[in-house]
Amino acid sequence: MDRKFFLFGSCLDGRYIDEQEVISLICYPNFKNCDIHNRLNQANLLGIELLCNFGNITITGNKYRNFHILGKGHSSIVLLGYVKNTGYKVIKIRRSDSKRPELINEGKILERLSKYGISPQVYGYSRDFLVMDYVGDINLGYIINNENKLNITNSFIESLESIKLLDYTNIIHNELNRPWKNIYFPNYPNYFPAIIIDFESHSEGCGNLNKFIGGIIGRLNIAKVSGNLVKLLAEYKNKNCDPLIFNKIKEELLSIINTSFIR
Ligand SMILES: Nc1ncnc2c1ncn2[C@@H]1O[C@H](COP(=O)(O)OP(=O)(O)O)[C@@H](O)[C@H]1O
Ligand SMILES: [Mg+2]
Repeated sequence: MDRKFFLFGSCLDGRYIDEQEVISLICYPNFKNCDIHNRLNQANLLGIELLCNFGNITITGNKYRNFHILGKGHSSIVLLGYVKNTGYKVIKIRRSDSKRPELINEGKILERLSKYGISPQVYGYSRDFLVMDYVGDINLGYIINNENKLNITNSFIESLESIKLLDYTNIIHNELNRPWKNIYFPNYPNYFPAIIIDFESHSEGCGNLNKFIGGIIGRLNIAKVSGNLVKLLAEYKNKNCDPLIFNKIKEELLSIINTSFIR
């Protein structure tokens, strides 16, 4: 590394973090299996200059002095950061205890999908870092818990449109059966576009719509699922996610929601 890795603590409060704190963050949650120099080098190559003390999640513990981050998953932590020539972006950092070996595959998937406007734009990635656009902090879970039926329906309509495109790309998001965690609305209170995140676990094929609807029906506790919907969903999968059947499924789902008690 030819220049001193320069990171300060916050985009908002200007708290500088010392080198120890930076290293603790990029090797979260511990130094075991974490090649610090290699990680600093990757961050440097990606142009990551600042890590910001910003977000709704706090990492507690002496090492972190209650550092705020955007999110924490099983395999990564997600922070706001500043990237040279690009600006404030989201930095996903692979956890040192992650079971997944790298973030490169997710970076490639995001590159493909962001062309369709259904996932965050990606600016760079390496084994342990991924730089992408911020999608805000309003996800489908928030909408289901806080909004009225009309807005919940609007959020579903936009989610369905993004999922239709996802099925078209032949990439299956393996966690879309819990869509409330993975679908975000960066322009809330507008629901367009619905952005899908976290392609850590994915496979080839189509059928995201089936996962999404299965998850939603369980979450909203809709008992009255029509036999017609079940039939259409099976047909959709059998016919390689035919967009014509998609439209029928969308209508059927919206009419079920319309006549159901929600919350
Ligand atoms: N682009 C983003 N903009 C804003 N928040 C994000 C973004 N990506 C991830 N997050 C937040 O970080 C959390 C963890 O990210 P996720 O991709 O699910 O990590 P993992 O691969 O470890 O499951 C998400 O639930 C979300 O709250
Ligand atoms: Mg996740």
